[in-house]
Amino acid sequence: MMKFALSAVLTLGAAMSQASGLIQPIEPYTSPTPAKVELGKMLFFDPRLSKSGFISCNSCHNLSMGGSDNMPTSIGHDWQLGPINSPTVLNSGFNIAQFWDGRAETLQEQAGGPIANPGEMASTHTLALDVLRSIPGYRQAFAEVYGKDSIDIDQVTDAIAEFERTLVTPDSPFDRYLRGDKNAISAQAKAGYELFQSTGCVACHNGPALGGTSFQKMGVVKAYETDSKIAGRSAVTGNEIDRFKFKVPTLRNVELTYPYFHDGAVWDLAEAVNLMAELQLGHEFKAEETEQMVAFLKSLTGKQPDFKLPILPPSTVETPRPNPN
Ligand code: HEC
Ligand code: HEC
Repeated sequence: MMKFALSAVLTLGAAMSQASGLIQPIEPYTSPTPAKVELGKMLFFDPRLSKSGFISCNSCHNLSMGGSDNMPTSIGHDWQLGPINSPTVLNSGFNIAQFWDGRAETLQEQAGGPIANPGEMASTHTLALDVLRSIPGYRQAFAEVYGKDSIDIDQVTDAIAEFERTLVTPDSPFDRYLRGDKNAISAQAKAGYELFQSTGCVACHNGPALGGTSFQKMGVVKAYETDSKIAGRSAVTGNEIDRFKFKVPTLRNVELTYPYFHDGAVWDLAEAVNLMAELQLGHEFKAEETEQMVAFLKSLTGKQPDFKLPILPPSTVETPRPNPN
């Protein structure tokens, strides 16, 4: 894990204006197990995994909305307003850990959480498994993928995680530029990319996802003002020094994943950029520079995954009925 003091951020930023190898293009992901991906996709879209029968993973990580819900904080079971912004699931396979505070190590570990989270899908693993076991189409699909006649939660989360690994967004204009197509992005976006390196954004937003590689404090130079009570990474490590550190979010598809920050308080990308410069780097952009940065960030929008609802296998008379309460 990388930790930067401000001075380290600045020196690194300067060093990086020469060495730009810190950002890599996104490679398409070809799963070795396509049948598992199909199963994971059905599960991702299936509201019957929730207590109400209304909420699926896709409700809060909508694949037609950049893998997020475009709400400051998510609405879960029984219209409860959640405490934190829903991060995109796109390119989440690149993250060192999952959740803003990194409390799940892997995608598979993460996927078990929302089904049983009372504020999200509000089901239990037992009920969700009873639902799946009652549906012949699922029994068949699980048997084909896992080669046994039983369905357990590890299979459910394993299939969802494999589907999520396919949710990469390759072939953005910026990736084509990185690969040598010098006209793939505008002069304005190129200037933004230069600024991204020279001012030091790249010290934290790096790797193929331009994020997801470290936990960093929100408000390195100047404190961030928020009504949110979220502690950040310290909730996981128990160390006071990790208070208000968050997993650096990806900037891939960031034009689609508004509103921004863990509290979803900022709707405008230019405003998010200016806040970052000020709070993280003690830097103020001129209006023209902000526009360049935004043009660069917009060039990070890649090919979106197929977001058509899969055909879900029908329920039977034995399928437990949704209970909206
Ligand atoms: C009610 C809304 C809601 C539902 C339903 C939901 N999520 Fe989430 N998801 C969130 C929120 C909010 C977070 C951030 C929570 C946090 O960091 O504390 C999150 C975090 C994640 C992350 C971590 C991403 C990252 O960059 O850290 C992944 C992956 C994810 N969810 C996948 C899923 C899957 C798979 C399902 C279905 C089984 C699901 N979610 C259902 C709201 C939801
Ligand atoms: C010291 C590390 C660090 C530096 C430097 C940094 N960022 Fe960030 N960035 C973060 C963290 C951490 C967050 C999440 C903060 C939160 O949600 O409270 C973030 C969030 C963002 C977001 C919002 C993304 C989202 O989906 O919510 C944008 C946009 C962004 N940064 C752009 C930039 C730009 C542009 C620069 C350079 C001017 C920059 N960042 C410099 C760590 C950094």
